[in-house]
Amino acid sequence: MFKFNFEVETEAAKSPFDEDSLQKVEQEDSAIVKDIVWYKAEKIKPTQTALSRLDLYELNAKDLKVGNTEIRHLIAGFLLEDIKIHGELESRDIKKSEESHSDLITGVYEGGAKIWECTDDLLLYLSDNYEDSYWKDKRVLDLGCGSGLLGIYALQSGAKVDFQDYNKDVLEQITIPNVMLNVQSDLSDDDKLAFLEDNTSFYSGDWSHFALLTLDTEKYDLILTSETIYNIENQQKLLDTFSSRLKADGTVLVAGKSHYFGVGGGLEQFVEVIKQGTAFDSENVWQADENLKRGILKIKFK
Ligand SMILES: C[S@@+](CC[C@H](N)C(=O)[O-])C[C@H]1O[C@@H](n2cnc3c(N)ncnc32)[C@H](O)[C@@H]1O
Repeated sequence: MFKFNFEVETEAAKSPFDEDSLQKVEQEDSAIVKDIVWYKAEKIKPTQTALSRLDLYELNAKDLKVGNTEIRHLIAGFLLEDIKIHGELESRDIKKSEESHSDLITGVYEGGAKIWECTDDLLLYLSDNYEDSYWKDKRVLDLGCGSGLLGIYALQSGAKVDFQDYNKDVLEQITIPNVMLNVQSDLSDDDKLAFLEDNTSFYSGDWSHFALLTLDTEKYDLILTSETIYNIENQQKLLDTFSSRLKADGTVLVAGKSHYFGVGGGLEQFVEVIKQGTAFDSENVWQADENLKRGILKIKFK
């Protein structure tokens, strides 16, 4: 069940992204009226230290089979136990959410520590609709990745994948361990790190800052994003990130719910925002009518 702890934020929209707007973004940050200061983006490197914990991760992992692809990932309970034992400082944002019994604290912790159900929808959609041959040489972004299962699926299928999550501690304690669990196990530690260096990158921080930090890197063929449209205030940042980082013929797949109670965002409302802009066309390519409607949007440049 959702437990959004929604705080209204009044940060001015910062779009479109361009080379010299980083300074502007930083100036605007200091002028935010409410006390939400969105975290700056940072590139996070997988470390030898994380790799040395792989045996522990293995003992606390399980497999998810999606079509012919197996994804190994940490079980949810492990993280909380591990935080209690080790993560005093590094897990501070996840810890705050635990302490406040909330899945989301706007601008502090954005929900990446658990696997949200639309991730499963999008995994199945990818497995049903994208041939094995699609992935080779593709650049994929798992935007708002949390556990990173979408990106891991693309990586297992042969793509090069960047993972982005708002929270650095989610990347360090969940996403990177999960990715490591899926690297070929018979490689030496050095070769595992080299594989990660060649095929992945990890970025923390706010979407607008991420788009600026990565401005000089190759754009993406496919952006995958699940359960990231809940906050109406952040939707323009999300769309600007698509504009800035997607190749001209690229595709974005957005998985989300029809409505996020207490927050206001939702798939149909997001489609209206897309229609009001001039950049994108969107198509509803999958829908589930259960208690709460869920769907997948395919977005392309006009
Ligand atoms: C509800 S979680 C979904 C996690 C994952 N995609 C899933 O389906 O399990 C929302 C994700 O969006 C990211 N996110 C939300 N707002 C963000 C922002 N303003 N900047 C960067 N990332 C953001 C968070 O990092 C978080 O992982």
